[in-house]
Amino acid sequence: MSLSEHAAAATAHRGPVTRVLVCIPTYNERDNLPTVVRRVRESVPDADVLVLDDNSPDGTGKVADELADDDARVHVLHRAGKEGLGAAYLAGFAWGLGRDYDAIVEMDADGSHQPEQLPELLSALGDADLVIGSRWVPGGSVRNWPLHRKALSVGGNLYTRVLLGMGVNDATAGFRAYRTSALRAIGLTDVASQGYCFQVDLTNRAVRRGLRVVEVPITFVEREIGDSKMSRDIMRESLQRITVWGLEHRARQLRSLGRREPKWHRL
Ligand code: GDD
Ligand code: MN
Repeated sequence: MSLSEHAAAATAHRGPVTRVLVCIPTYNERDNLPTVVRRVRESVPDADVLVLDDNSPDGTGKVADELADDDARVHVLHRAGKEGLGAAYLAGFAWGLGRDYDAIVEMDADGSHQPEQLPELLSALGDADLVIGSRWVPGGSVRNWPLHRKALSVGGNLYTRVLLGMGVNDATAGFRAYRTSALRAIGLTDVASQGYCFQVDLTNRAVRRGLRVVEVPITFVEREIGDSKMSRDIMRESLQRITVWGLEHRARQLRSLGRREPKWHRL
């Protein structure tokens, strides 16, 4: 099937999702992981959990293995080293797409994304292809973020909206649920985004494919334990890639304008 046929199929067959995989990427989250996994298991007891660990130096991988030993619904994908959030999610998606899931969820390990809000995201997915847990829609909020992080998120989303012309308020958000049919329609083989711009990349692809993207307000709570992995390199990659996608988008718009027969030809 071509990507557009996948997109048509995705849109035609929406409905409640039952088989759900929650992907949790980890890098040095030893002290956060058990809590978040417990909260996910309590909030959506029928969902499976897949921890994507990049060989964390603090031993998160071992903690994940212990959780998996105790609970058949918890799985672990060990990766050789830190290759970025995008690469970890692509590996997790491939794992999930090779099995029989209706939906794949992305969420952070540090408690910023509250597992108790998962049922709401999944219920919205009944009538959507991608549900984004959004900080920047009415009802959404951020707790305990310093001003510079708020500014980065608001600024990044504004830049993204202006350049890519998408009607999404929180395109950088990392708390989301995809129908697996949507991931097939998006096409993942040529995704090159390594860092957090992976989120914008997939949002952009979903919108361009004509998939239905819905934002549900969430409360994002800044982590209490451990450190953010946000870095200058991650910001640089985001800025560069979003600028290129934006220029490509505008060039496509210009070309399609050029293809329209200008009125003065008919005079
Ligand atoms: N496996 C793996 N590999 N996991 C990673 C990597 C990596 O290279 N980098 C980060 N993570 C994991 C962290 O361990 C955590 O579970 C999650 O990804 C988010 O990382 P944080 O470092 O806590 O992100 P943040 O709080 O600064 O950023 C939040 O906002 C971004 C911008 O809106 C997150 O929600 C991001 O997902 C979001 O893009
Ligand atoms: Mn975080």
